[in-house]
Amino acid sequence: MEEIERIREAFDADSRGISSLKDLNRLRIKYLGRRGLVIQELKSLSSLPPSERPPRGRAINDLKAYIESVMERLEEELSAAELKQKIEAESIDITLPGKYIPPGSSHPVNRVLDEIVEIFRFMGFTVEEGPEVELDYYNFEALNIPKDHPAREMQDTFYVAAGGGGGRLPAESDVVLRTHTSPVQIRVMEKRRPPLRFIAPGKVYRCDADVSHTPMFHQVEGLMVDEGVTFAHLKGVLELFIHRLFSTDTPVRFRPSYFPFTEPSAEVDIGCILCRGKGCRVCKGTGWLEVLGAGMVHPRVFEAVGYDPERYTGFAFGMGVERLTMLKFGIDDIRLFFENDIRFLKQFRV
Ligand code: DAH
Repeated sequence: MEEIERIREAFDADSRGISSLKDLNRLRIKYLGRRGLVIQELKSLSSLPPSERPPRGRAINDLKAYIESVMERLEEELSAAELKQKIEAESIDITLPGKYIPPGSSHPVNRVLDEIVEIFRFMGFTVEEGPEVELDYYNFEALNIPKDHPAREMQDTFYVAAGGGGGRLPAESDVVLRTHTSPVQIRVMEKRRPPLRFIAPGKVYRCDADVSHTPMFHQVEGLMVDEGVTFAHLKGVLELFIHRLFSTDTPVRFRPSYFPFTEPSAEVDIGCILCRGKGCRVCKGTGWLEVLGAGMVHPRVFEAVGYDPERYTGFAFGMGVERLTMLKFGIDDIRLFFENDIRFLKQFRV
């Protein structure tokens, strides 16, 4: 019986020094393992005379039950403590400053494009779109651009190879990347009847690259068709547009020009906004900058879409968005728009 008491005391002493589940396991092996102290005591029962076995057996079983209950309590306490420690080590410090994600911004070309759209919406124009991969018919033919026109040369136009659309595309030379937004005029007129008043912004493609040309750039086309539309309407609309995009004191002039799809045709200049008309490097000393092409819709264009040219008249215009953006912000190289240099783009954040 003294032996059993000693084991209990030793266990009490050992259990006080336990600080982890690992220690607890060692304790379990020491007392309750196959060669543990309690189990050894139970095994030694067989060497006692039969009459001494029951009281001693009971005492050993009491000790075993005692040890098990203490260990069970310790296990609960220790696993709770270890879980708490783990949670604290992994928890988030909500007082730390957050990671800064710098806000993005519209590309300068898109900003000016949005402004252009807004000005024309104000004047009652709707916004239309057309495909960038276009048929020769819409890009050239229906716009009265004859087969031998220089714009059709391989140097300017990207032709799309036949078969690209799974064999559904017409022969090679019939499909192009649109070289201007003017084909949208035809597509909209084919679908609708006058009165029409819309702009058509979008990407256009030309095989060209230098400080003022990139293979892809943006244009905004405009078309207004009704009975009694005159060149005076064209002048009024474009003057108001330029005065809103630049400033109300910007001089505007119409110069006679030629486009196959308009007659008469004009190129529109604005007084150089860098030198205010005095003459500088940007306006090549003339004091004027060309900003768009325009004119009265050619009767052959109306015929192509089945409009009666005796009844309807209309004006059309087209402008390059990159060029307008360069003038507005004083940018001297068009390629800067497409290099994606964050130091350049950052300067146009609103
Ligand atoms: N499509 C012409 C170009 O890309 C621009 C243009 C000129 C469009 C006169 C028009 C227009 O609608 O009337 O150079």
